[in-house]
Amino acid sequence: MDIYERIKQDHDAVRELCAQVEDTTNRAEKKREQLFRQISLEIWAHHKVEEATFYEAFKKKGETGDAFEAQNEHHMLNNMMDELATMPVDSEQWQKKFGAMKELLDHHLDEEEEDFFPKAKKIFSKEEAQSLGKMFDGRKKVTLAAITPLEEIAS
Ligand SMILES: [Fe+2]
Ligand SMILES: [Fe+2]
Repeated sequence: MDIYERIKQDHDAVRELCAQVEDTTNRAEKKREQLFRQISLEIWAHHKVEEATFYEAFKKKGETGDAFEAQNEHHMLNNMMDELATMPVDSEQWQKKFGAMKELLDHHLDEEEEDFFPKAKKIFSKEEAQSLGKMFDGRKKVTLAAITPLEEIAS
C-alpha cells in the first residue's frame, strides 16, 4: 500500500467515526464519549505520524509552504479536540464545537487528498510512495498503541 492509500484509509476511518457521532443522540452519552475518545486517539496519532513521514518528505522536496499549512491545521484540530475533552458531551457547547471541528477536519482531509496528493504524486517516485506508506503504517501502529490507555486495549 502506498502512502496515499494508507493515509486515505485513516481518513475514511475517521470520517466514518465522525458520522457515527453525528448519529448519536444526547441521551447516548456513553456511546458518544467512547466514539469521541477513539476519534481523539486516531486523529492525534494520524497527525503525528503524517508529520513525521509524509510532510517531512514533502519538506525535503521543497514543498515547505504546504507542509506548514497542514501542520498548522493539525495544531488547530488537536487544540479543538483538547477543548472538547473538557466539556460534557451532551452539552450544546460540545455539539457546536464538535461541528466546527468536523468542518475544519473535512476541509483538511479533502485538501490533503485533492490538493497535496496530486502534488506529491508529481514529486515522489512510486518506490518512494511505497516506502513512505510502509513507514507510515509501522509508525502509526506503535504510536496509537503507545497513547491508548491499557484498559481501552483490554476492552
Ligand atoms: Fe493531515
Ligand atoms: Fe491526513
